[in-house]
Amino acid sequence: MKFQNDSLPITSVILYLVGDALSCQLQLPLYKMKDELKEKFRSQFHKDPERVFFCPGRVNLIGEHIDYNGGEVMPCAISLGTYLAVSRNQEKIFRFRCLNFPETADLHLQSSYSKTGKEWFNYPLGVINEFIKNGNIVSGLDMLFYGNLPIAAGLSSSASVEVLTGFALQAMFQSSFSMPEIALLSKKVENEFIGVNCGIMDQFAVAMGKKDKAILLNCDTLEYEYLPFETGDYILTIINSNKQRALAESKYNERFEECSAALKLLKKELDVENLCDVDVDTFQAHHHLINDPVLEKRALHVVTEYQRVQEAKEALNMGKLSAFGELMYASHNSLKVLYEVSGKELDTIVEFCKGYDSCIGARMTGAGFGGCAIALIQKEKLGDFSEKLIPYYQTRIGYPPSVFASDIGEGVKSL
Ligand code: GLA
Repeated sequence: MKFQNDSLPITSVILYLVGDALSCQLQLPLYKMKDELKEKFRSQFHKDPERVFFCPGRVNLIGEHIDYNGGEVMPCAISLGTYLAVSRNQEKIFRFRCLNFPETADLHLQSSYSKTGKEWFNYPLGVINEFIKNGNIVSGLDMLFYGNLPIAAGLSSSASVEVLTGFALQAMFQSSFSMPEIALLSKKVENEFIGVNCGIMDQFAVAMGKKDKAILLNCDTLEYEYLPFETGDYILTIINSNKQRALAESKYNERFEECSAALKLLKKELDVENLCDVDVDTFQAHHHLINDPVLEKRALHVVTEYQRVQEAKEALNMGKLSAFGELMYASHNSLKVLYEVSGKELDTIVEFCKGYDSCIGARMTGAGFGGCAIALIQKEKLGDFSEKLIPYYQTRIGYPPSVFASDIGEGVKSL
């Protein structure tokens, strides 16, 4: 993502090469970000913001392309995210500004809105639209957004903006949605206003994240529990392939349709609601019903990935991080071979990780088709890992990846 306003520091732990030396940019604390944003708000709107909010992005540890198939996923919130400084105005105008993008919008309060073009403000606008429909908005708002999540990198920047807006509207207008309801409303915006058939995972993760915990979320019932994600000598590392996710939305919707088609065929003999209701043995006994090699591969990924989530839960509960790491590698392989959502860039990163002694697991995370991989790297080797991965990747792909080290953080909050 190219920042339009260079005077605001990018806040993340980014490791990169300057010549031959590894350099590191550290994350600013949240209170410092709040001050920075307040100042920018003042120069935009000539008044103080009433409130400042933060919503993180997420990574999914395991359970990929499982949420819209009714199974359990295991995401966690990260330390990068999106900020919003906001104040009411009496002119009944929604003023959208963002430090990352030059496009602005000033829209008069009306009974409903629809998506206009592909501009960033469609995401908060969709959430405002839902709140208006529910009778929850009574004045205009001056809004200044800023994000330090790389866009379209599979770290849920859109869910972060949606949940952030929902949480802010809830606080500004005292509506009574619970956090899971804000996540559901945000998913509805993504499905109906933006037009992507995503599941609930991203919105739920950024709303409900907890420090040093993975969320085990049942996407069918929305029951959830927090699992210990104690990485000990290892650190959760995010590697952005920096590949633009061309066709990501249409390919994502295609996978969604393929899963629905496979489920429909299995339902001829099986009494199931979701693909994740089918366990691996039952699938092996009934896969002939699908009779289409592509659909069969898609469904096989789903049923085996769901089994890996169960095994991953056990591994975390028993503190067996290396068993968890093995499951990450197996998940990546399935996404590459069966679900076909990886790609040369993500595969190159995971291949490097497999050959790197101090890495115990790696996989692509999120929808795929570019975006990010995650890896568990021995803390003291993080610098060495980046120093070696960056040229390895650059030689094969033609441009460098970015390496981030992230804490597992809290969900959306007021600053
Ligand atoms: C995207 C979607 C999620 C989920 C993942 C794949 O991030 O928004 O709902 O389907 O892809 O696991």
